[in-house]
Amino acid sequence: MLYPYQLPELPYQYDALEPSIDERTMHFHHDEHHQTYVTQLNDAVQKWPEGQKINLEKILSAPARIPEHVRAAIINNGGGHWAHSMFWKIMSPSGGGEPTGVVADAIKKSFGSFRAFKDLFSTEAASFFGSGWTWLTIAPNGELAILSTPNHNLPQADDLKPLLVIDLWEHAYYLKYQNRRFEFIENWWHIVNWPQVLENYEKK
Ligand SMILES: [Fe+2]
Repeated sequence: MLYPYQLPELPYQYDALEPSIDERTMHFHHDEHHQTYVTQLNDAVQKWPEGQKINLEKILSAPARIPEHVRAAIINNGGGHWAHSMFWKIMSPSGGGEPTGVVADAIKKSFGSFRAFKDLFSTEAASFFGSGWTWLTIAPNGELAILSTPNHNLPQADDLKPLLVIDLWEHAYYLKYQNRRFEFIENWWHIVNWPQVLENYEKK
């Protein structure tokens, strides 16, 4: 992703993820929240001409190198743009079920079984305090990990590649689920786009 950044189209209709995620939430989340991050990211990178030529993921892998006058704005809004772009893609109306291929093998090897992985991931996401994201990541040595980051911080800053992610900001679920984050997480598993997760793993 390069400057000027653009809001990506959803790869499905706004109501396509019903009933796991309702149409109204998708509109607010994509058209309002994500759009705002894109707009504010562009405003910040406009003040850093050198950064306009660097890929966003590369910028966010080394946040300490971002000039101080735009650092916070780029970490927050750039992280928001990158994470949401991934979040839309790792969901699908034909999602759910279990992973296949090499990523299924890697999950089994790291966590014992898909069931054990799913339970750990759900527990991590449900117990993370405040706004943030829970990720499945892969390290350069091939090790998988479940971890959460606050705000819009990305695992790439710690040299980890994301394979799967869930948005834990209240704007992701509040309209339908109010404070019932665990119910949102449980229903989200029905729309996880495992072929995309496999693609992320293969591209690692
Ligand atoms: Fe979000």
